[in-house]
Amino acid sequence: MPGASGVKELKEVNHNPSPCKRIREEFGVKEKKEMLIYLNGKLVQEEDAKISVFDHGLLYGDGIFEGIRIYNGKIFKLDEHIERLYNSAKAIMLEVPLNFYDMKNATIQTVRANELQDGYIRLIVTRGVGDLGLNPLKCKVPTLIIIANKVALYPESLYEKGLDVITASTRRNLSESVNPAIKSLNYLNNILAKIEANNSGFPEALLLNQEGFVSECTGENIFAVKNRMVMTPPVSAGVLDGITRNAIKELCSRLKLEFREINLTRYDIFNADEAFLSGTAAEIVPVVSLDRRIIGSGKPGEITKSIGREFRLLTHTDGVPVYE
Ligand SMILES: Cc1ncc(COP(=O)(O)O)c(C=O)c1O
Repeated sequence: MPGASGVKELKEVNHNPSPCKRIREEFGVKEKKEMLIYLNGKLVQEEDAKISVFDHGLLYGDGIFEGIRIYNGKIFKLDEHIERLYNSAKAIMLEVPLNFYDMKNATIQTVRANELQDGYIRLIVTRGVGDLGLNPLKCKVPTLIIIANKVALYPESLYEKGLDVITASTRRNLSESVNPAIKSLNYLNNILAKIEANNSGFPEALLLNQEGFVSECTGENIFAVKNRMVMTPPVSAGVLDGITRNAIKELCSRLKLEFREINLTRYDIFNADEAFLSGTAAEIVPVVSLDRRIIGSGKPGEITKSIGREFRLLTHTDGVPVYE
C-alpha cells in the first residue's frame, strides 16, 4: 500500500511485469478512464481532481510549479526540475509535503499510471486551503498536484520559419519583489506581456528588466549568437534559471561554441547573427525578428539549428526511465 505520503516504493514496482496496472491497483484505481491525476497522495480520475475554492493557489497565486517533459519513456532533467521546485518553495517559505525522493517517485508513478511515453508533467504545490484573507499561516496543509498529460506540440512552421518577437512595455518583476527565479503560480506579469504581443499581432513578447536590459520572453529564455558566441542574460537580469538554458550551456561546450551569460540590450539582439528561445515546452525556437528589425538573414540560423539537433539527441538519450 502507499505510505502516508501516498508514495509507493519504486523498487517493489520494478519487479512487476505490468507496472502501469500495478501502480493503479496500489492506488486503488479500478479503471483508467481518461487521465489520472495525483492529488494529495491519491491518484484520482480527471473528473474527480478538484480542489477547494479557498485554496490560496487559486485565491492569491500563492504556490509554485514545474513543467517537465517526458521523451521516449524517460523524464528529462527530473532531478533538476525537482531541485528547482524546492528552491522556489524555500524562497516563498512553503513546505513541500514530500521529500525529494518521494516527490520523484510520485512523479514517476503518475507518468506510469497514465502509460505515457512522451508527454508533459506539471508539478504544482500551493499554500493550501485557508480563508479569504491572504495570511499564509491560515493555510495548514499545502496542496500537491501532479498532472502527466500528452504533449501538445507547437506547429512545425514555428521552428522552420522562426518567431517574430515584440518588446512589451511590461517590465520583468524586480528581483526584490517576486524574484523571477521563483517559478511561482503568479504569472500575471508574463501574461500582461503576452497580451501586449497578442494585441499587436505578434506570437511572443520580450520583457526588459527595470534597467532596460533584456530579461526573457513570457515563458522562455532568450539567446543571441554573434561571431559563434552564444549569449544569454544572467539570472541576475531577472530570468528564470531555465533548465533548457542550462542544457544549452552544456551543448555549447560539446559544439565548441563559446557561451557567455552577459547583460544584453535590444540593440544586441537586433544586431545578432542569430537569436533563439529555449524552454521545456517550446524546446529551441529560432527568433527571426525583434520589434520589426530582421535578425541576421531573417531565417533560422545554422548555430540555432545545430543546437536544436544536439538538444533533440540529448532528450532522447538522457533522462530518468519510467518503465525500468
Ligand atoms: C518565465 C520563464 N522563463 C524561462 C522558462 C524556461 O525554463 P525551462 O527551460 O526550465 O523550462 C520558463 C519555462 O518554464 C518560464 O516560464
